[in-house]
Amino acid sequence: MRRFSADYLEETRRGMWDHSRAALAPLELEDRELILDVGCGTGELSAVLSEETDGTVVGVDRDRQLLEETTVPTVRADATDLPFESGIADLVVCQALLINLPDPSRAIAEFVRCSTDLVAAIEPDNSAVTVESTVPLERELATRARTHYIQGVNTDVTLGTVPELLRSHGRPDREVTDIHTRRYDHVRTIEPPYDRRAVEAAKRKATGSRIAQQRETLLAGGMGPDEYDTFRSSWREMGRSIVDDMQNGTYRRTETIPFYVTVGKIKRTERRSS
Ligand SMILES: C[S@@+](CC[C@H](N)C(=O)[O-])C[C@H]1O[C@@H](n2cnc3c(N)ncnc32)[C@H](O)[C@@H]1O
Repeated sequence: MRRFSADYLEETRRGMWDHSRAALAPLELEDRELILDVGCGTGELSAVLSEETDGTVVGVDRDRQLLEETTVPTVRADATDLPFESGIADLVVCQALLINLPDPSRAIAEFVRCSTDLVAAIEPDNSAVTVESTVPLERELATRARTHYIQGVNTDVTLGTVPELLRSHGRPDREVTDIHTRRYDHVRTIEPPYDRRAVEAAKRKATGSRIAQQRETLLAGGMGPDEYDTFRSSWREMGRSIVDDMQNGTYRRTETIPFYVTVGKIKRTERRSS
């Protein structure tokens, strides 16, 4: 089971929806009564949803520690077995949950069961992430790490748009119709003046700690053990260059992560008696 730290989620989601609330328009947030944000983690999306609705947002996650960081009411539960009665919410949504599930269709079936109106998934396509950096090696090393990680991880982290999953949810009494997908690029920029999190992230690169945590996955993704050692040394060297350049105020980095907002409408179907 992949674990996420509160620091990681806060760092990677910071400002994500600050200038792009329009991408959430298909969720029709102003009309909602009860929203479930499943796999909410530290509740970065839940907080945005709460700002946009007069209804109630409930965060759901299986990780107790992450739930402690949220600002909304929460329920600890597994996304594939939600402890709610059918039709309890009028929107069930997730962000970057399905890419972490071995069988995302099981979670979608629960979303469809629990919603009376909309289901939505906001998922990235990690194969299309781009990095631009003033440190020449960073772009190449980030691409290599990502390529091996995607090949080695046991879930589909390139999922992105999910209309098929919504369509084939497996609930005989419901249909998901009017499925729409909208792409939203989450652009993360590091530039002077650097904040505490950016400085800490650079120092972490110089230690190679995150790359070390991913060792087994990178090896499973085709990186040889010797290649891994050389790769980690280069990564740490790159981290040291970033730290130096930050001290001179010359470091700049832009990462673009494509997210897809896929939304569908629940329609109840008549059960035919034979
Ligand atoms: C990448 S994080 C995304 C968190 C949050 N949605 C966000 O975008 O900031 C994935 C989250 O899904 C949760 N998660 C993974 N598998 C789960 C499952 N089977 N049931 C419930 N939560 C799960 C993890 O604990 C983690 O909080």
